[in-house]
Amino acid sequence: MKFFFLINLLISLAMKRLLLIMTMGLCFDSVAQAATSTQDGKAIFDKNCSVCHSVMPPPKNAPPITPLASRYHQRFKTKKDGVNYLVAYLKSPNKDKAIDPQAITRFGLMPALVLPDAELRTVAEWVWDQYNPNMGMGRGMGMGRGQGMNQ
Ligand code: HEC
Repeated sequence: MKFFFLINLLISLAMKRLLLIMTMGLCFDSVAQAATSTQDGKAIFDKNCSVCHSVMPPPKNAPPITPLASRYHQRFKTKKDGVNYLVAYLKSPNKDKAIDPQAITRFGLMPALVLPDAELRTVAEWVWDQYNPNMGMGRGMGMGRGQGMNQ
């Protein structure tokens, strides 16, 4: 009798373990899913921004991303500041906040983007990372050198 009791106990312990492992597995699964469904910056850009923005010149119907990234690097010391500013701009573009007011004269104001915050942040980080020091500060596109004067 005692023996059966022990077996029972063991089995129920084993079941508990199994259950625990299964629930933990489920948790990990959903974490993994959340991670994979967050697209990376380039994918978000291709889907939501590339209709208007090219990455490199020539422009489509908005300024290309690489020179914009240069301007952000000129203006902000840290990625965090740059990204925060950009996320705010993407949510509500505004001619007083534009990093390149001339772009508005040329292309018009960018429409506000309705995207989840996490995606805006990811794409803003991607934009920041498109800075290419070898390209100079947008030289040869009429937005280089003289820039300090209109600010
Ligand atoms: C419907 C066209 C359109 C779409 C879509 C669009 N943009 Fe723009 N964007 C513009 C135009 C036009 C400008 C220039 C005028 C301005 O700054 O508002 C601009 C400006 C910008 C700037 C400069 C902001 C500043 O501080 O002056 C950045 C950076 C930018 N876009 C990134 C993006 C990103 C990232 C996306 C996608 C998540 C995106 N844009 C989607 C048209 C667009």
